[in-house]
Amino acid sequence: MSRVSDIYAARIADGSLRADPVQQAVMPEFERIATALSKPVKRGLFRKAAEPIQGLYLWGGVGRGKSMLMDLFVVSLDDVPARRVHFHAFMQEIHTAMHKARKAGARDALEPAAAEVIKSVRVLAFDEMQITDITDAMIVGRLFEKLFDAGIVIVTTSNRVPDDLYKDGLNRQLFLPFIDLIKARLVVHELASPTDYRQDRLEGTQVYFTPIGPEARADIQSVWEDLAGGAADPLTLVVNKREVLIPAFRNGVARASFYDMCGAALGPADYLALAEATRVLILEDIPRLSRQNFNEAKRFVTLIDALYEARVRLIASAADQPEMLYVEGEGTFEFERTASRLREMQAADWGT
Ligand SMILES: Nc1ncnc2c1ncn2[C@@H]1O[C@H](COP(=O)(O)OP(=O)(O)OP(=O)(O)O)[C@@H](O)[C@H]1O
Ligand SMILES: [Mg+2]
Repeated sequence: MSRVSDIYAARIADGSLRADPVQQAVMPEFERIATALSKPVKRGLFRKAAEPIQGLYLWGGVGRGKSMLMDLFVVSLDDVPARRVHFHAFMQEIHTAMHKARKAGARDALEPAAAEVIKSVRVLAFDEMQITDITDAMIVGRLFEKLFDAGIVIVTTSNRVPDDLYKDGLNRQLFLPFIDLIKARLVVHELASPTDYRQDRLEGTQVYFTPIGPEARADIQSVWEDLAGGAADPLTLVVNKREVLIPAFRNGVARASFYDMCGAALGPADYLALAEATRVLILEDIPRLSRQNFNEAKRFVTLIDALYEARVRLIASAADQPEMLYVEGEGTFEFERTASRLREMQAADWGT
């Protein structure tokens, strides 16, 4: 097992990360967990049950490096079975498994759903824990109890302090025991670095690539690698009981083609959900639109409005400059605002 602080130091030495004492201060927490995990599990009739390993709840503002640090930690574990998963995706998996169990007649659907997760891992690393949905809020408490009982160690990133989870949510009093559980079983650590590194990385870099072609594709790919820092997973958002698929997602960065996002019958609620779930959208292959593409153009306007309002960064490849993307057809007047927003969103300090 390599030490996470060594991996961190190596990244600083090779120039891929900047030294940050606030990030450095998280290392002892990760190393405490790694050391505890490396101890053999003692078994025996008269032994006291082993003290459970305290996990870590790493929270703080956007772009501070929470996901990056957690990823380094997961890499450092090498032979400990660990799974890094976006919290939202994980909860969807649980709901799907519960649905299946209910169909199969299980009395307590959560039991088999949790058992499925438990059998394959020792460490669960959740990215972006947040609870906005009542169906999640009402099961997380029991779910986490089961995970902890099975000896699973949980590390998680979040933008909120535990006390603010599911803030103003429906029936929140039923959710409060979960907050207590989190505080009892995870060390709560704030990553209060002054630097938003995501913003830093984007500052001064090109974010609008035209024309579409191999060059734009390669540039977009390198932006993706720089910001997402790992393999993409699809992310499904559930909006009004419908599913909206984002083909590639990691570390708050979503990547999709124009046709994924504007070719299908998506509407304002879908784009709002997308904007809420992402910090950066990489949108590829925006074509020149014509009269026949009125629907696509209209959706694109709605998409850009949603991103703009939510201050989501946009990185795009397009057939032409913003003003030239939709010059004739219904809604060209509205499109002028979109073009202007596309310009504004390219500014180095946009979104800060
Ligand atoms: N010390 C650093 N030096 C250089 N780049 C860094 C540093 N820390 C983080 N980054 C980079 O900044 C970007 C944002 O980091 P990261 O995704 O970990 O932020 P985060 O705290 O998880 O943000 P969010 O709350 O939005 O999820 C990533 O591309 C990451 O690699
Ligand atoms: Mg993150």
